[in-house]
Amino acid sequence: MTDAEQPATIRLEVARYRPEQDSEPVFQGYDVPLMDDWAVLDGLAYVKDRLDGSLSFRWSCRMGICGSCGMNVNGEPRLTCGSFLAEYGDGPIRIEPLKGFPVIRDLVVDIDDFLDKLSSVRPWLIREGEEPPLTAEYAQTPEQLDAYKQYSMCVNCMLCYSACPVYVLDPDFLGPAAIALAQRYNLDSRDMGDRFDVLNLDEAVWGCVFVGDCTRVCPKHVDPAEAIQRYKLTAALRSVLPWSRR
Ligand code: SF4
Ligand code: FES
Repeated sequence: MTDAEQPATIRLEVARYRPEQDSEPVFQGYDVPLMDDWAVLDGLAYVKDRLDGSLSFRWSCRMGICGSCGMNVNGEPRLTCGSFLAEYGDGPIRIEPLKGFPVIRDLVVDIDDFLDKLSSVRPWLIREGEEPPLTAEYAQTPEQLDAYKQYSMCVNCMLCYSACPVYVLDPDFLGPAAIALAQRYNLDSRDMGDRFDVLNLDEAVWGCVFVGDCTRVCPKHVDPAEAIQRYKLTAALRSVLPWSRR
């Protein structure tokens, strides 16, 4: 193959953290083929398969559904399967773990705190006077579905947490996706639950200062910032109309 036939390459600067040998993260450079149809995740897979099998990162579906491939790409939280090498010109592309989470290894972060926050909002249909498992059919109109559908599109990628200045400063903040998930159930006509105790807190909706970066980076257009502001209104109304829930 002549030089003219060699595929162009782009440099990935990848954060490496191997706790058995690194006291802090260091960057390592890799040159990968610059293919028009390669996502950043494909570049990382090339590194792992061809250049350095010790690199660790999470991924699964490669189609924006599993939410596991989130990383900071040139400083922005992105799904790496939905971000293309060609978007970054001649490079380099700097790839780091999602900001705001403890790093376990290389690009892999600890998601335990996030999972605890999601489960704290009781993200399931709550029916008063009925014991699980629920077997009855609860019909909904298209309008009732539309009331919460947007919030049900979340893929738990954590990009919104990584972009949120409140969460980065205060790890107790319940955070965008968990509040959007609570609203997914609060606004569901089949749900009879009450999540006021989890949401009406300084560490929950009242901690949000409405920067809006969560909504800007969300790859699924969930709009968690809107979910938070809507629940602030609900909580405020409830202080004057204590019997209102939604
Ligand atoms: S709200 Fe959006 S950015 Fe946040 S976890 Fe869900 S899909 Fe990801
Ligand atoms: S690999 Fe599943 S969302 Fe990117």
